Amino acid sequence: MVKVADRMRGLQASAIGAMTVRCQELGAVNLAQGLSQVPPPASLLADGARNFEHIGHSYSQPEGLAVFREAVADKVKRSSGLSVEPATQVVATVGATGALMATLTALLDPGDGVIVFEPFYGYYLSSIRMLTLTPEPVRLTGPGFEITEESLRAAVTGRTRAMIICTPNNPSGRRLTAAELKIVAAVAEDHDLLVITDEVYEDIYFGPEPHLAAATVGSLAERTVTLGSLGKSFSIPGWRLGYACGPEQLMGAVRVAADSFVVCAPAPLQALGARALNLGEDYYHDFRAMYDRKRRTLAAGFAAAGLSPNEPEGAYYLFVDCSRMGVATGVEAAEILLENTLVGTVPGEAFYLDKPDRPYVRACFSLPDEVLADAVGRLANGELTHG
Ligand SMILES: Cc1ncc(COP(=O)(O)O)c(C=O)c1O
Repeated sequence: MVKVADRMRGLQASAIGAMTVRCQELGAVNLAQGLSQVPPPASLLADGARNFEHIGHSYSQPEGLAVFREAVADKVKRSSGLSVEPATQVVATVGATGALMATLTALLDPGDGVIVFEPFYGYYLSSIRMLTLTPEPVRLTGPGFEITEESLRAAVTGRTRAMIICTPNNPSGRRLTAAELKIVAAVAEDHDLLVITDEVYEDIYFGPEPHLAAATVGSLAERTVTLGSLGKSFSIPGWRLGYACGPEQLMGAVRVAADSFVVCAPAPLQALGARALNLGEDYYHDFRAMYDRKRRTLAAGFAAAGLSPNEPEGAYYLFVDCSRMGVATGVEAAEILLENTLVGTVPGEAFYLDKPDRPYVRACFSLPDEVLADAVGRLANGELTHG
């Protein structure tokens, strides 16, 4: 009988998808799925509709259209001050997910250890497992979720070849500080590790400090591949446009891996995406203000229900400590929230290899204002805390 590959053992559709199905069955508000449901920039859609006939509809080069890579390089320069050469250091990919798969495939061998920081974005683990790499978790504890030198050094083993960091972070909302990135740089240098930095939320941060790109810190640029996504910055996740950028001697192999997987990222959408990447500072200013408002609305709703939402520094999720529900796990907390308030969230367990230190749930606020208002109303009416 034909069997499923061993590498798929233990891999299954995510808890997030399962919660979405339950929300549909129960008529619950779905704060589980990280689907951006805010509208894309109107100018991008109007421009796209006007120009769709006139842009190329064949494949692009495997590394992407020159106009797209140039726009990525310009944006990276504007937002983080980092210089990348569009011809040799940027590869257009099918979302940041495509960038992650191509990077892991191109730069690591089966069995290699990859450090991931708990709580982490679930696709890191599934990608690591699919490629028969070895996940090596480092536990970050709330509410601060800071990287410490001791815990990072203790996690390095003889097989460790890489680490994946994420800033701003999904699900914790943390932005790595310069001090934490220096720790990452020191450990990576001492053990000659590849650093993959997932910065898909670079444009969604709160407060005056601009995004701090990992590759700008210390000598990290020499060993770091940065992943970006137009899906997050321009609310077009379905366009499946992302990119990887890094040192020339690594990006040639990433380009070959990306080509072998999918030939190229959607070429007509790259042409339109390049225009989005050229949007001015006004766009980002309004975009962040919108997310700041949404973040405050939803956090106030969870706080009013007696729970303890974090104050995310970036990205579009709340990571809510539900200890006051008197439950031991995020799974129980998410179940009670769903049953008692008809609000769907993701159990914190989805972001850990081992048991989380607290009963967390993640709630997404990349949703229309009226959906968030509905969720806040439902949270206010449910029975959630004891005493
Ligand atoms: C941290 C993080 N990285 C990567 C992705 C995937 O990005 P893309 O849709 O561009 O593949 C997501 C999507 O939710 C994410 O949260």
